[in-house]
Amino acid sequence: MKFFVDTAEIEPIRELAATGLLDGVTTNPSLIAKSGLDFKEVTAEICKLVDGPVSAEVVALDHETMMKEAEVLRRIADNVCIKVPLTVDGLKTCKALTGEGTMVNVTLCFSANQALLAAKAGASFISPFVGRHDDNGFDGMDLIEDIRLIYDNYAYATEILVASVRHTGHVLQAAKIGADVMTAPPKVIHDLFKHVLTDKGIEGFMADWAKTGQSIL
Ligand code: E4P
Repeated sequence: MKFFVDTAEIEPIRELAATGLLDGVTTNPSLIAKSGLDFKEVTAEICKLVDGPVSAEVVALDHETMMKEAEVLRRIADNVCIKVPLTVDGLKTCKALTGEGTMVNVTLCFSANQALLAAKAGASFISPFVGRHDDNGFDGMDLIEDIRLIYDNYAYATEILVASVRHTGHVLQAAKIGADVMTAPPKVIHDLFKHVLTDKGIEGFMADWAKTGQSIL
């Protein structure tokens, strides 16, 4: 499963990119607002830090203006992936852009039928928001299972990008279901490394090693 980080903050991206485990980045208008940074400038900087797809979202709601915004955004770098909302105009834009060879991430997906539409529109990625789904009394992971089944039924190439990830349990479930990608805030990705028995094990090994009086170097 590919790991994307869901942030527009440069330092956490740089730190995760250095682990060699980061496959891409997702941003959205709220994350850009939170960063306080210039959208086009920060997108260019992120694209230099990561080789994989960097999602940059259009903010227009009509197809014509979405296309104009996408034109500006995709000129920033080859790894820009245009993010469009799951609306009629968004999917029209998706179809046009993917037809021209541009990567598209269809966002704000809350149903398997919406995911089916996105695949038919040729989306590179579909972003079902599991956390927001859970917040509203549904089970976000059921949605991922349904989308996996449908995409496999028809061998759609659209990658399932599990979004709105709130905790490590979401990551585990996404991997068990066979999602292609998950995007999570930096904290959740860092939490994946942690286990109390790993810390305890290191402590024990270090204490015993000290008793040997030896050194490897
Ligand atoms: C995904 O691309 C979105 O940016 C993100 O995962 C939304 O997460 P949230 O529901 O925590 O805002």
